[in-house]
Amino acid sequence: MSSAHTSEITTDAVASAPSLDTVSVLKQLHALIGSDLAETNRIIVEQLDAQVELIPTLGSHLINSGGKRLRPILTLLTAHMFGYQGSGHALLAAVVEFIHTATLLHDDVVDKSERRRGTLTANAIWGSKAPVLVGDFLFSRSFQMLVANGDLQVLRIMADACAVISEGEVMQLVVSNDLATTEAQYLEVVSRKTATLFAAAARLGAVVCGRSAEEERLLGNYGEYLGRAFQVIDDALDYASSNEKLGKSIGDDFLEGKITLPVIHAFMHATEEERQFWSRCLEQKEYDEDSLQRAIALIRERGSLDYTLAVARRLAEQAKEQLLHFPPSEAREALLLLADFSVSRSF
Ligand code: IPE
Ligand code: IPE
Ligand code: MG
Ligand code: MG
Repeated sequence: MSSAHTSEITTDAVASAPSLDTVSVLKQLHALIGSDLAETNRIIVEQLDAQVELIPTLGSHLINSGGKRLRPILTLLTAHMFGYQGSGHALLAAVVEFIHTATLLHDDVVDKSERRRGTLTANAIWGSKAPVLVGDFLFSRSFQMLVANGDLQVLRIMADACAVISEGEVMQLVVSNDLATTEAQYLEVVSRKTATLFAAAARLGAVVCGRSAEEERLLGNYGEYLGRAFQVIDDALDYASSNEKLGKSIGDDFLEGKITLPVIHAFMHATEEERQFWSRCLEQKEYDEDSLQRAIALIRERGSLDYTLAVARRLAEQAKEQLLHFPPSEAREALLLLADFSVSRSF
């Protein structure tokens, strides 16, 4: 874990930016919506219950291993911004985290990842079958909860989001191991697989408060830009962090042939010999023990982390612009902080 004054990705581009330590940002958010989040966590534990013991066992392995809860925080904070007085937002936030958890269970199988949140992934412990099936349970339980909640608008948002996320994951699979992938194609995948859930989570705060379609749209845009910035930084951290700090294995993207923004940039600015290196690894899937270190070095030498950070920072600014339409409040400040955090986070 990084100290309060260091940003994980250290390049010239961030030298002047304020660093936001993950733990202290989460503390600030908890100060505002801590009791709502506690209620969300209570619902999560309650709803994880199932007849078949492996479901709560495997589910709680991931759910209790210390995720940041950013997506449910978005729902709770946006509702808080409108002065929400009811209790329905905690259930929606729990659904959002369930869907996130389901995508992570599936994602770690697809990506063959062995570490998450500083511990072994479910697939590293139980193999790939159980997490796929428990992920399916979490999706299904989420929709049971939404049907019980009874708001068709909420159901529509979450059903649409799940379909788009799946499309994003499949789209990513289709363009994997292909160095001809463009930045636009990459951003399309990012938007679908990650930003869609951030956007849905933020919109739910407006919906549960019965706010206007315009306010819902603005918060959806905020979540969309925030989610894109968040994923772009995630893709930088995969080459710029360490296993200990990130809680995940760095280099997973490289070894799985994911064509992310740091690679797209480094490849575009590569010498002929470097291009052959990238192609040998990412397209022919021929790695040796030094490949990852060389990839990290090339990405740094070509300024690809700086470039990636600049893209993420622009997205975070676009996220913040959406919030200018709302009157100042503590909750709005916290949403602005989340946008800066998405870029300067260490995990
Ligand atoms: C991980 O998301 C998946 C991505 C979209 C990069 P988070 O970094 O929010 O994961 P947790 O829930 O905090 O572990
Ligand atoms: C996560 O993408 C997106 C979803 C789970 C839908 P990644 O594969 O980049 O996330 P990490 O790095 O495994 O957390
Ligand atoms: Mg992954
Ligand atoms: Mg990643």
